[in-house]
Amino acid sequence: MWKGRFQEQTAELLQTFSESISFDWRLWRHDIEGSIAHSAALVKAGLLTAEERAQIVAGLREIGAEIEAGKFEFKLALEDIHMNIEAELTRRIGAPGAKLHTARSRNDQVATDLRLYLRDECDAISAGLRELQGALVELAEREQDVIIPGYTHLQRAQPVSFAHHLLAYVEMLDRDHGRVADARKRMNVLPLGSGAIAGSTILIDRAYVAELLGFDGVTQNSMDAVSDRDFAVELLSALALVATHLSRLSEDVILWASSEFKFIHISDAYTTGSSLMPQKKNPDVAELTRGKTGRVFGNLVSLLTTLKGLPMTYNRDMQEDKEPVFDSVDTIRASLAVFSGMMRGVRANRAACAAAVADPMLLATDLADYLVNRGVPFRHAHEFVGKAVALCTQRGCDLPQLTLADYQAISPAYQADLFDCFRLETAMLARQAIGAPSPANVAAQLARWKVMLG
Ligand code: ARG
Repeated sequence: MWKGRFQEQTAELLQTFSESISFDWRLWRHDIEGSIAHSAALVKAGLLTAEERAQIVAGLREIGAEIEAGKFEFKLALEDIHMNIEAELTRRIGAPGAKLHTARSRNDQVATDLRLYLRDECDAISAGLRELQGALVELAEREQDVIIPGYTHLQRAQPVSFAHHLLAYVEMLDRDHGRVADARKRMNVLPLGSGAIAGSTILIDRAYVAELLGFDGVTQNSMDAVSDRDFAVELLSALALVATHLSRLSEDVILWASSEFKFIHISDAYTTGSSLMPQKKNPDVAELTRGKTGRVFGNLVSLLTTLKGLPMTYNRDMQEDKEPVFDSVDTIRASLAVFSGMMRGVRANRAACAAAVADPMLLATDLADYLVNRGVPFRHAHEFVGKAVALCTQRGCDLPQLTLADYQAISPAYQADLFDCFRLETAMLARQAIGAPSPANVAAQLARWKVMLG
C-alpha cells in the first residue's frame, strides 16, 4: 500500500508484530457498510461514475458474502481489515477499486468502523440487559410471597421479600441500560471525512454519508475525530459497572445455593458436578461471571492507559484499542445471556427461606419502632431493645420468649401487644414507605417492570 515510498520489504517480524487482521477482521461488515456509503458520496462529488460505484458495491458485497461464509482468505501482509478488503476489491474490479480510498484515510476509516461496530454492540447489550431484567422479574413474580432475611455486613438484618431483593438488581441493570444508551448517543457521530488528520482538499458531503450510515451528526474537528476513543472508553466503563452488578448478583446466587443458606435451587442445566465429589452441584455460571469481572475491569484500564499521554493525533498505539473492546463486549454479552437462562430456572427453597426468616431477631427494629409509636425517643428505644437482646443472649432464648414483666423491667412503655411485633406478616405489611417491601409495594413494582419490559 505504501510501496511508492519504500525500497525494502517490511521485516517479517514486524509484519506479525503489527498486524491486526487476526482480530480486526471482525469489523468487516462495518468496514464494507462504511465504504458503500463513502462511494455514494464520491459519486455525488463527481469523483466516481454511477457505473464505477455499482462495481464497487457489487465487489464489496461479494467479498462480504465470502467473509460471512468463511471462504475469504485474509492476508497478514495486508495488515488490517481495511487494507484486506480494499486490496481484494481492487484485485477483482481494477481501477474503480483504486478510487475508493479518495478523500479518506485509514485513520478516519477505523474510527468510523469502530463506532458503527460498537453502535450495534450497544443494541445487543441493551437487549441482553433487558433479557436479564425480564428473567429476574419473572422469578420475582413466581416467588412473590417468599420472605427471606435481608443482610447488612452479611449479618441478618431485617426481613425482605425475595422479590424485593431481586428487583434491586433490576434497578441496577436499568441504570446500566441507561449508561449504554448514553454512550451510544455520544458515539453516534460520523468521523469519516476527517482524513488522516486535517480532512481533505477533495470535498465530499459528510452530512450525506452520516445520513446514509444512520449517524446523528458529523464530527466538527478532524483532529479530535481521528485521535479520540473516548466513546469506546465510555462503553467499557458502562460495561465495567454491568460486570460489577453481575458479580454481586453472582455472589448472592452462590451464597443462596450453598448448603448453609439453601435459599434456592439452580436447575441442573445451569450447574456442573465435580469429577471427584459425587454430591457436588456447583454454581459455575455465577462463579465464572464473577471471575470475568477482572478482565472487564482490566480492559477499561488497558484502554485508558493506551490513550493516556498520546500526542495528537492518530498514533499506532491506538490499534491496541480493539482487543479490550472486543473482549469486554463479548464477555458481557455472554454473561448476560447465560445468566438470564440460569435465573429463569431458579426456584426458591420455600422451607429453608421460611426457616431462616423465622429468626425473631430480624424484627428487633420493629420492636424499637413499637416504642417510638408510644412516645419513646428512638435512641432510647434502641437501647431498650438492645437490653432485651442482651438478656436473650444471657438466657439463651429469643425475643418472643422474654415475658412482659422482663420487658416492662426494661421500659414501662412496653405493653402486652408488643408480642404482635413478632408476626412477620404484619411486619411486612407495615413496610409501606416508597421503596420499602410491603407486599402491595412489591406487587406494584412488579407490575411497573412488567409494563416497562413489555
Ligand atoms: N489498523 C489500524 C488501527 O487499528 C488502522 C489505522 C492505521 N492507520 C495508520 N496510519 N497506520 O488503528
